[in-house]
Amino acid sequence: MKKINIGLLGWGTVGTGVVKILQSNSALIARRLGASLFIKRIADLDLERDRGIKVDRKILTRDARDVINDPGIDIVVELIGGYEPAKTYVLESLEAGKRVVTANKALLARDGDTIFEAAQRAGLEIGFEASVGGGIPIIRSLSEGFVGNRIQSILGIINGTANYILSRMSEEGEEFVTILKGAQKKGYVEADPTIDVEGIDTAHKLAILIRLAFGTKIKLKAIYTEGITRITPLDLAFANEFGYRVKLLAIAKRDKAGIEARVHPTMLPQNSLLAGVRDVFNAIYVTGDAMGPMMLYGQGAGMMPTASAVVGDVVEIARSLLGGGAGSKPTYLASKGLKVKDMEELVGQYYLRFWVVDRPGVLAQISAILGKHQISIASVIQKGRRVGKAVPIVIMTHEAREGEIRRALEKIDRLQVVRDKTVFVRIENRLN
Ligand code: NDP
Ligand code: HSE
Repeated sequence: MKKINIGLLGWGTVGTGVVKILQSNSALIARRLGASLFIKRIADLDLERDRGIKVDRKILTRDARDVINDPGIDIVVELIGGYEPAKTYVLESLEAGKRVVTANKALLARDGDTIFEAAQRAGLEIGFEASVGGGIPIIRSLSEGFVGNRIQSILGIINGTANYILSRMSEEGEEFVTILKGAQKKGYVEADPTIDVEGIDTAHKLAILIRLAFGTKIKLKAIYTEGITRITPLDLAFANEFGYRVKLLAIAKRDKAGIEARVHPTMLPQNSLLAGVRDVFNAIYVTGDAMGPMMLYGQGAGMMPTASAVVGDVVEIARSLLGGGAGSKPTYLASKGLKVKDMEELVGQYYLRFWVVDRPGVLAQISAILGKHQISIASVIQKGRRVGKAVPIVIMTHEAREGEIRRALEKIDRLQVVRDKTVFVRIENRLN
């Protein structure tokens, strides 16, 4: 039986999962592939840590170049993460004639052009299924299954950590910090957790999805990005009362005027499919002109689901290698950026949570300012009475322009009766 040799860069959470799958399912994979996958070398800075698996110590090295420059290695799997040295290693691997598999969304979001061009120039495959949605095959779906569609919109819950935190805060009432620690233990969280909770990881993934779905490049700074750190258990409870769940959503929509590209906490109707996506699960709701709406759902982070996507890429590339690599390779090159719409132009409904002194006339002051900005009120809730003390008041608006909302809140937050910065959350009722 033929043998395909793999070199692994980065033996951390996902790297360990990849080794586990290739060890425990080796016979199954060999039967399906018609060749065996063999881990020839593993590079990591720390070779002593107990990963709970046995490997031949002779294959271990601290120097990634022992892997990249090994002429016997066919496929390099980059699971170090971050920009450097990962970028250099990926480019050097391609230059050395190796196919590459990576889960590194930060790198692809920022340097995708350089990397995909290098792969194209070299005529070599690059697999990055694990970079978005963990174990969910969204990359393959967009580049193969949905390829005949003009994609109109993508709504995604694509950060496992943020979804895990929001679910547990909402359902168990646990503290943010405690939940984050739990997510770190489970291996969901990036080395720098702000990348997850401030929406940056979601923006990285959205940039990759936009490239595939709309064929356009997008700079990270063009994606409006807001994380979940302003959302409190109180907001989650109010959302529940109004029939919504809060999710960190990645949104990309395309029409003749350009694209919307944004990441922010969003209220979704409780009975929608996306609202039911809990814990570390991710879901991507894609609408295409031919297929209509389609949702992919699965575990979006963690050792084994992510490793499953990495191994899927390795097997696909191995198949191509076995066939002489003659088939056409998907191109991930993108055209110059389409116009990205300004957030100020966005029209939608909003949840506004004020923290104000409980005194007659306060609501009148707030609604007068909202009225001046053409913001009409759909409903209001004030919980409890604490005369002369601060209380939360929640207003749900009818459709309003975001620019007007922002200007109205600037004025409201300067009122003497307002005790804290107003929290506002966008509501997404139209899911197509
Ligand atoms: P880890 O931090 O667990 O693993 C990275 C490993 O790379 C560590 O063992 C690290 O060693 C090692 N490393 C660092 N620098 C080098 C180097 N120069 N040469 C060789 N090894 C090096 O990260 P994950 O496994 O969680 O993530 C890997 C990639 O997968 C990242 O791009 C991440 O964004 C992505 N990803 C992760 C998911 C997850 O759920 N964890 C899900 C989807 C994608 P040391 O610890 O000693 O620094
Ligand atoms: N930190 C990421 C997440 C890992 O929580 O979704 C998966 O990309």
